[in-house]
Amino acid sequence: MKLKRMLEYRRLLRTTQPRRYVNLFRTIYQRRCRRIIEIGTWNAVHAEQMILTAGARHPIESVVYCGFDLFEELTDEQFKLEFSKRPPNYQEVLHRLQRTGADIRLVRGNTRETLPRSGELLRGADFVFIDGGHSIETIAGDWSAVRQAMGPQTTVIFDDYYPGAGPELAGLGCQHLIDGLDRSEYSVELLEPTDAFEQPWGVLRVQMARVMLSRSS
Ligand SMILES: C[S@@+](CC[C@H](N)C(=O)[O-])C[C@H]1O[C@@H](n2cnc3c(N)ncnc32)[C@H](O)[C@@H]1O
Repeated sequence: MKLKRMLEYRRLLRTTQPRRYVNLFRTIYQRRCRRIIEIGTWNAVHAEQMILTAGARHPIESVVYCGFDLFEELTDEQFKLEFSKRPPNYQEVLHRLQRTGADIRLVRGNTRETLPRSGELLRGADFVFIDGGHSIETIAGDWSAVRQAMGPQTTVIFDDYYPGAGPELAGLGCQHLIDGLDRSEYSVELLEPTDAFEQPWGVLRVQMARVMLSRSS
């Protein structure tokens, strides 16, 4: 089974689109991550791929995935404010993920409320993917909860670093937060590849950023 999952992982690296998502799978595989948090589960396709990648390194029943999302509670207003995608409902996502055989927990609600009371779930995570609401305020709130629970073994990946963002992306993305992190406290890497998407107003470039506690902190 592990061999099958390893071959699936290699196939995922070759085929995944958009290309920047290889960073999730490489990080989980290379660092042998087993306790995964995803902020913004959406349709669970990447969640399932992350879980199966962890399952190439560990027995799948020992892999723990905890996803946070608004699911069916996402309002039209939040949809616009968070530059979001519309997720399926909670039960559909839960059913899909439980079929992996991993230990699945899903937390429904606005992360501005759910994350501050989820310290116990966050502590002990070795991999955190921050990809929920895209407003600067929501990303800052998500990071604040994650930061407090981080340990030396925790790797955090942020999506939605918009290099060279112009006025069209005002108020969105993690670039200000990442650029402002204290490099003596955190080790920060901007990850390639960068994806590019044509928009009515120009080209949207999107990168991921990887953050850990720095060794000296
Ligand atoms: C870009 S999608 C996530 C994509 C997913 N991580 C992936 O890689 O396929 C963003 C998700 O975050 C959720 N979301 C947006 N704002 C949120 C908030 N304030 N609290 C909780 N979830 C939120 C949306 O419902 C949506 O499903």
